[in-house]
Formats: sequence, structure tokens, C-alpha cells
Amino acid sequence: MNARGPDRRATDGSAIALTGATGFVGSALALELLARTDATLLCIARGTADEPADARLLRGLLAACDAYGHAELKPAVRARCRALGGDLLAERCGVEPALLSSADVFVHCAASLQYKDRYRDEILQTNERGTANALALAEAAEIPAFHYVSTAYVAGDREGAIAEAAVPAHTRPNNVYEESKIRAEALVAAAPIETRRVIRPSVVIGHSRTFHATSFTGMYGFIRALWHANRLVEGRLGGLLRYRPLRFDFAADFELNLIPVDAVARVICGLLSAPSRGLSHHHVANVTPPAIGEAVALLCETLGLARPLFSVAEAELSSIDREVSRATRFYQSYLRYPKTFETAATEAVVGRSDLTWDLCAANLYPYGIAYLEQLEASAPRSTAGAPAAS
Ligand SMILES: NC(=O)c1ccc[n+]([C@@H]2O[C@H](COP(=O)([O-])OP(=O)(O)OC[C@H]3O[C@@H](n4cnc5c(N)ncnc54)[C@H](OP(=O)(O)O)[C@@H]3O)[C@@H](O)[C@H]2O)c1
Repeated sequence: MNARGPDRRATDGSAIALTGATGFVGSALALELLARTDATLLCIARGTADEPADARLLRGLLAACDAYGHAELKPAVRARCRALGGDLLAERCGVEPALLSSADVFVHCAASLQYKDRYRDEILQTNERGTANALALAEAAEIPAFHYVSTAYVAGDREGAIAEAAVPAHTRPNNVYEESKIRAEALVAAAPIETRRVIRPSVVIGHSRTFHATSFTGMYGFIRALWHANRLVEGRLGGLLRYRPLRFDFAADFELNLIPVDAVARVICGLLSAPSRGLSHHHVANVTPPAIGEAVALLCETLGLARPLFSVAEAELSSIDREVSRATRFYQSYLRYPKTFETAATEAVVGRSDLTWDLCAANLYPYGIAYLEQLEASAPRSTAGAPAAS
């Protein structure tokens, strides 16, 4: 392996095929790969009616250079990233396998992050069938290593220690997104490709230095839901929630496994570099995760709300609590089944430092503020006055 990073073959003037490079995790990964290898990145990306795939990719990655504090990588983006117009929904992603003949590694990071039942079809098509199409493309191009970016939340309703292993058959997913990722992992496991890694990040948050994020699922979805609920209550009842604590029926001490996007990119990059054969599973999770109570209390404080109460019996929740609970229902699936993601297999390859993040309230604060500022800037002013947080 080349001392600078991932797969030796990928540093010998060859290439890495990558899906999802216009997204949050994929763009951070693309920059990391540019920084740590000499490889060309063959990015399978969609165009839109207004913008072809190559222009979208270039714009997205240059913006990521700014967002993640890597202006020095802009020349590498221009010189070494090539867009291959494609779509996960098309057979072999609509990409001619010969275009990937220089690639020795395929990283499949693209996915639909929708989770609601009404998008069931789209989610399964993108995540399950899309993974089948990506695998078929990698096979046809005879790429020997396929790395699939999944999610730690394929753990579904399981509690306690979650192993870096195939998802047990008794696992019940909390939503169709988790279901689709479980199905996709099974496809990867069964594929006739020499090296297959299933890489499972936990909840990805912004960059650890700039706090910037470009996609707002996970923790950001919870913040957004709470922020919207607060605005609704403000419209009806003014600043009630500044004095009257919100109550949640989950326990304050459950772990909330958050990890910054740059750490995720570094860990994935490190995993690509390690020789391996057959199928392996890796959690990319924080080994020192904050407690959910601390994170939600911080969020409430940031929004100017009273300190919340936890472990409140369901029957004691008010209609406002229930409304907030409904608005944050998806994100509460992270909180209802206490679990700890084992990371020994990942640590054995990349060590522990990129998995160790002290995200106590004080350290989490700038991530929350960065996002709230974005929300405030993009939202029309409430007729009931300014929202509690600024
Ligand atoms: N964010 C998290 O907290 C988190 C946590 C754990 C795991 N993950 C996993 O990490 C991966 C990346 O997530 P993310 O947060 O970066 O999501 P994201 O920002 O929404 O990016 C999704 C990417 O997938 C691409 N994509 C979606 N449908 C496509 C299609 N039909 N054809 C081609 N490309 C398509 C998108 O391209 P367009 O730009 O064209 O839409 C975009 O590049 C996913 O596999 C996700 O499951 C994310």
C-alpha cells in the first residue's frame, strides 16, 4: 500500500469509481481521496434539466472545498475528477463498463435518504435496485473491490452491543430507509466480487473544523423538526416553551452516536487502503458518543427553550409534547432502542483517533448554531415574531 493512503493500485495512476460525490458524505470522501491518493476519481453522477452531470459535479466539489476548508484541493478537483453521467436506476447505472477499465476500487456511496412510507418505491428502487445496478457495473468492469456505504442503523430495533457483522434475520427496521439498506447489504454480501466491504457510518454531522454540512438528515432533521414545532407553538401560544419544558418519553442517558463528516471520510479512506478479501463489515461510529439528553437539552437551550424533561410517562405528555414527538418521530427511532456500535473491526484497520469525538454540549454547540443560522436565513419570518433562537 502506498504510504499516502488508499489502495496501492489506485495510486498508480489508476482510478476509483465513486457514486454519490455530489452528496454530503460522498463529496467529503472525494476530497479525502484527492488529498491522499494520486488516483483519478470516476464519479457516477446525475445531471439535471438545467445542468449536465460534469458541471454539477464540479460545482458541488468546488463548493465542498470551501465548505470543508480545503481550497488547496480545487486544482485536484479540476484535474482528477471526471463525471460519468449515470443514474442508479438505470441498468449498470447507465455507464459503459469500459469507461471504468482503469478503476480497481468501486465505492458506492449514493442513496436516497428519504425514509417516509410514501416514498417507499423511490427508496427501494434507489437503494436496493440501485445497489444491484452498481454491483452489476462493478462486475462487468471487473473491478475487484466494492465498498458499500451503508448505515449503522441497519441495526433497526436491536438493542445493546451491535456487532460488525451481517444483519441478523430477526432485525426489524424502523422505516423503509433502514429496510432498503438491509436489503442492499444482502446484495453486496452475495455478489461475486473478490473484496466487499460494508461500511456503516452512524449519524453524520458537519465538518469538525468548519461545522459545515451540506445534507441535513440525522441530527439535523431532529433540529429542524424541533425548530419547526417551536415556530408553530410560537404562532399559537407565544413564548410558552421558554418557560414550560418540553417532555420526552425517551431516556436522557441513551447514546446518540454522532460523528463528523471529515472523520467519516478519513475512516472510509483508511478502510479502502487495507488489503482484504471476501466480505467484511465496519462501523464508522463515535467511541465516545454524547448522551441524547445532553444533546437535546443543548438544542433546546440554543432555541431559547426551557430545559427539557426525559423519561416522562407517555400518559403525562401534553398535546404540545405529542406534537413535537410526532414531528421528530423518525429521529426518535435513533433514540428508542439503546445501542452501542462495536468498532473493533474498524479500529483494527484505522486505529481509534478518528472514532473518538468528545461531543459534549459545549463541543456540539457550534454544529447546532451553524445549522440554525442556515435555517433562520432561509425561513420567512414568522408573523408571531422572531423565533426564539437567533
Ligand atoms: N448523512 C448521514 O447522517 C448518514 C449516516 C449514515 C449513513 N449514511 C449513508 O451515506 C451515504 C451518503 O449519504 P449523504 O448523507 O451523503 O446523502 P446525500 O447528501 O443525500 O447524497 C446522496 C447522494 O446520492 C446520489 N443519488 C441519489 N439518487 C441517485 C440516483 N438515482 N442516481 C445517482 N445518484 C443518486 C445523490 O445525487 P444527486 O446530487 O444527483 O441527488 C447524492 O450524490 C448514503 O449511502 C447514506 O445511506 C449517511
